Amino acid sequence: MDSQVQVLVGAQWGDEGKGRVVDVLAETADVVARYQGGANAGHTVMAGGRKYVFHLLPSGMLYPNRLCVIGNGLVVDPEKLIEEINGLDPSPEMLGTRLVVSGAAHVVMPYHKKLDALRETARSQSGSASAIGTTGRGIGPCYVDKYNRTGIRMEDLTLPDVVASKLRLNLSEKNQILEKIYGESPFEFDKLYETVLEWGRFIGPYIGNVTFELGEAISSGKRILFEGAQGTLLDIDYGTYPYVTSSNCISGGCCTGGAVPPGRIGKVIGVAKAYCTRVGGGPFPTELTDAAGERLREKGREFGATTGRPRRCGWLDMVALNYAVRVNGLDAIALTKLDILSGFDELLVCVAYEIDGDRSETFPDSSNVLERATPVYRRFPSWNEDISGCRSVSDLPKPAREYVGFIEESTSTKVCLIGVGPERENTIRIS
Ligand code: IMP
Repeated sequence: MDSQVQVLVGAQWGDEGKGRVVDVLAETADVVARYQGGANAGHTVMAGGRKYVFHLLPSGMLYPNRLCVIGNGLVVDPEKLIEEINGLDPSPEMLGTRLVVSGAAHVVMPYHKKLDALRETARSQSGSASAIGTTGRGIGPCYVDKYNRTGIRMEDLTLPDVVASKLRLNLSEKNQILEKIYGESPFEFDKLYETVLEWGRFIGPYIGNVTFELGEAISSGKRILFEGAQGTLLDIDYGTYPYVTSSNCISGGCCTGGAVPPGRIGKVIGVAKAYCTRVGGGPFPTELTDAAGERLREKGREFGATTGRPRRCGWLDMVALNYAVRVNGLDAIALTKLDILSGFDELLVCVAYEIDGDRSETFPDSSNVLERATPVYRRFPSWNEDISGCRSVSDLPKPAREYVGFIEESTSTKVCLIGVGPERENTIRIS
């Protein structure tokens, strides 16, 4: 890592392949931290011929002697966290790696997941707006409680009296919503309380003061990698609202959700796929609903790591990517899945939108406007070679080099890494 504090963010709609890029960068990081989101993320990492999918754990868990951090900005589903910790092989203890979960992170409760699913169904039946297509992991309802200041935090799990009173208060409200609005059965206090205490017994030893830990790590010159989840266009403020997640996925999110002062961020890397995908509802100007889209989906194995849903696929969108460069202050782009574009007759790249008859290179700040955008494409030749063995840009066929060069030129941002296949070693590292 060439800067002490680096932030890695998704530059599109999530699923850009951040997990494998983090995995490569984590090699030289001392600390790997997540700062937002929850188990809605699904980072797939291939290592040693084995596939790992992390929903909550930072991808650095596969390396020895690291500090891995779940920051205060996350909403943590304890069930999932316990499952992931138990599934680690080798165990963090054997690797000498330490996991610290912020006591200030919020707990996703079973009623959050239930409400997520019910609200999603209600939205899709309302007719006024189509469903967001959430992951059903309780993310939105949990963040609502956080901002409502009624949420249960990770620190509470080890305090039986505190958690009992918070749980009672929450259930008195949630059960009324479940019964009176949705006609569903209520949650029983005793059963849930027992579960919560069990979670506390397991997770308690991992709960710590992340602000202190990260502050110390920064002061002692440790190299820290912040791992963003989801993507810029799913950010609650900067994304395609309301078709977004409920947290700040952009680089700035790591200041509030990861306890790093803004001036300490040394480098921001945006991960972008060589084409685009999106899961769930919302505008997607370059979406392909034809055979080319199907081919991207099949070849790129574009099925959600968390929900298994088929991803919507489309051509690379430079208007959106330039927006991500600006909003995140990207210093470099990690370009993933370039190999998937081998063998197409030609490649299309969106260089502008046509909106209500006008050409624009500005990403609109409204989903209503973006819905009306049609892409203006520039065509590029493709290549037929298998590029998975390429280890430097000069190994790439000329059309692939031109494609990468065009991205650099039109974003004025260097491409620092290119993914040319699913394994760790299928990577071109440029700087
Ligand atoms: P939620 O985060 O589950 O509330 O879902 C809100 C929107 O974000 C939906 O369109 C999801 O499909 C999308 N989303 C959430 N997490 C991810 C992710 O990790 N990758 C891609 N899309 C995601």
